[in-house]
Amino acid sequence: MSGQFRSWKELAPPPYDKRTVDPYTRGRVLLMDGIEGNSMLTKHYMTRSIDDDAVKKHLAIVRRAESLQQQTIRSLVPSDETPIETAIGLEQMAVDLTANLAQNEADGYSKQVLDFALVEDYDHLYRFALLYERTEGGDAEQLTRGRTGIGPGRPTAEQHRHPVDEMRPHFDRRDVSLRTMMNHFTIVSAEQEKMLFYKSSISAYEDQLARQLFGEIADVEEQHLSQYEAVGDPDIAPLERLMLMELNEAYNYYSAFLGESDPAIRRLWKEFMGQELEHFRLAAALFEKEEGRSVADAIGDGIIPSLVELQPNIDYVNAVLATQEGLRPYDGEFIPRERLPPDWPSFTFRDAQNEGGSPADEVEKRRPRERVRRPA
Ligand SMILES: [Fe+2]
Ligand SMILES: [Fe+2]
Ligand SMILES: [Fe+2]
Ligand SMILES: [Fe+2]
Repeated sequence: MSGQFRSWKELAPPPYDKRTVDPYTRGRVLLMDGIEGNSMLTKHYMTRSIDDDAVKKHLAIVRRAESLQQQTIRSLVPSDETPIETAIGLEQMAVDLTANLAQNEADGYSKQVLDFALVEDYDHLYRFALLYERTEGGDAEQLTRGRTGIGPGRPTAEQHRHPVDEMRPHFDRRDVSLRTMMNHFTIVSAEQEKMLFYKSSISAYEDQLARQLFGEIADVEEQHLSQYEAVGDPDIAPLERLMLMELNEAYNYYSAFLGESDPAIRRLWKEFMGQELEHFRLAAALFEKEEGRSVADAIGDGIIPSLVELQPNIDYVNAVLATQEGLRPYDGEFIPRERLPPDWPSFTFRDAQNEGGSPADEVEKRRPRERVRRPA
């Protein structure tokens, strides 16, 4: 772990320029911020329920390094980037991340869950784009650079569901590929990041509609986090989970390093990948010692055949919109909304939440001019 505890000066690298940054550089910064946040928070949760000094000591040391990594990444976001601009960056990242994970997902149910939520995050991008025009006079296309479509998906007002409708059956770690497990940790981190960021942004605006829209979409991210958590195998042992998460961090940094166009940020991804390989090595040793199982028993040959790539997916996303928008979750399955029973728990729940109107609908009604559109 030598060299992983950075000085205050090293914690604050120069931020990117929000006017010229590649949208996927912004996306990688936000994704890695979320992955570090989840890595650190998971180590906190573990510490609260483990009565083993050796494990607690390991968690304390590595957790501090994760925390410093996250602070460094957060410093890459410039002070003049507004919360709505960051929200647009987060939803663009979510759309193209989810599309990448879904297209590299061999487990049919895990892919269905990703495609289902993709059309919801797609709609969030549209609603934040409308809010951006209204509140800050901005054009979201200048941030997304046309690399991701902006238009209506499954309307946000229709996304509010009873918590029981976010229950999902889970995969069995012995039946799925390593990429499926990596996808699981990556998407949980990204959705958690959005939920936390939107909640903390509620107080950033005076405009009531802006405050309400951040709250409304934060609530959908809470749903997304819940559904993705449910899909993960709960029988993964705590130290096995720790090891898999370190592997996922290294894998995401490696992917970010190969995809990165900004030389300074690319060097940072490489440095942090090296740190994660050390975290993985330590976690693997702890796993073998405490669990009495081999690393190969948990991760097989350790080969993940494809990378997490942020890039345009306009055709894929349009195809998913066409097939997924009308689906709704019922009893762990996804069915056309016409086939929902009258006592679907989300009907009454959604009506109560939308009583008095949905902020996501209002921001569309009060649209200043026709500018935001779905690309052909
Ligand atoms: Fe980390
Ligand atoms: Fe979203
Ligand atoms: Fe989401
Ligand atoms: Fe780590």
